[in-house]
Amino acid sequence: MIAEKFHNKSVLVTAGPTFEKIDPVRFIGNFSTGKMGFAIAEAFAELGAKVTLVCGPVSLQTELKNITRIDVISADEMFHACLQYYDTSDICVMAAAVADYKPVHQELQKIKKSENTMTLELEKTQDILYYLGKNKKPGQILAGFALETINGIEFASEKLSKKNLDLIILNTLEDEGAGFQYDTNKINIIDKFGNIFIYKLKSKKEVAQDILKSIALQI
Ligand code: CTP
Repeated sequence: MIAEKFHNKSVLVTAGPTFEKIDPVRFIGNFSTGKMGFAIAEAFAELGAKVTLVCGPVSLQTELKNITRIDVISADEMFHACLQYYDTSDICVMAAAVADYKPVHQELQKIKKSENTMTLELEKTQDILYYLGKNKKPGQILAGFALETINGIEFASEKLSKKNLDLIILNTLEDEGAGFQYDTNKINIIDKFGNIFIYKLKSKKEVAQDILKSIALQI
């Protein structure tokens, strides 16, 4: 049943971390492996969707024919890649752990150590999901992730409305085995109607199926 909803649909998925360069050899990054985003992209592709997977630096591979993979490094690059595909996408799932801040200056030469302390000046990156939500067209489905350590449902619901999403997937880090670097994840899904779906700890492949089922309910 959900296969019919996704067959031949154009789907945009982001995955993995972004790296924000400090100098030619250093960056600000995070521990995202991209596994959740890849599992989502593969789940869509297996149901006949045409998937564009924009991913930050990850060591994962995917063999599926109907996944077009675009590799990027920074939040700026991810933003521009998403813009290229957004207008023609029916469904977008932003699973990437995009850096919220980047260095104001990227040094062209390696920074030499000098003082005992050093301060890096950072500026906000473009919030890709917020931009896509603002520019969402009727009929497009937009899903995002939230990673919260306290007040999960409350903060995720705020993000859902602020970013004009159809649903938000809340990663709860409360359970051992959930979140970055694990093959399992524990999520709650909140949709734009205020429904909250609570799931148990599952493999990321099974979590991807749950996410697709909730997206199918929005179509
Ligand atoms: N996201 C994005 N672009 C950014 C930052 C985040 O597209 N520059 C997306 C992520 O892919 C995710 C969602 O926004 O789908 C939530 O990101 P998160 O970092 O949890 O939320 P923020 O809105 O950045 O708020 P905060 O860090 O204050 O929790």
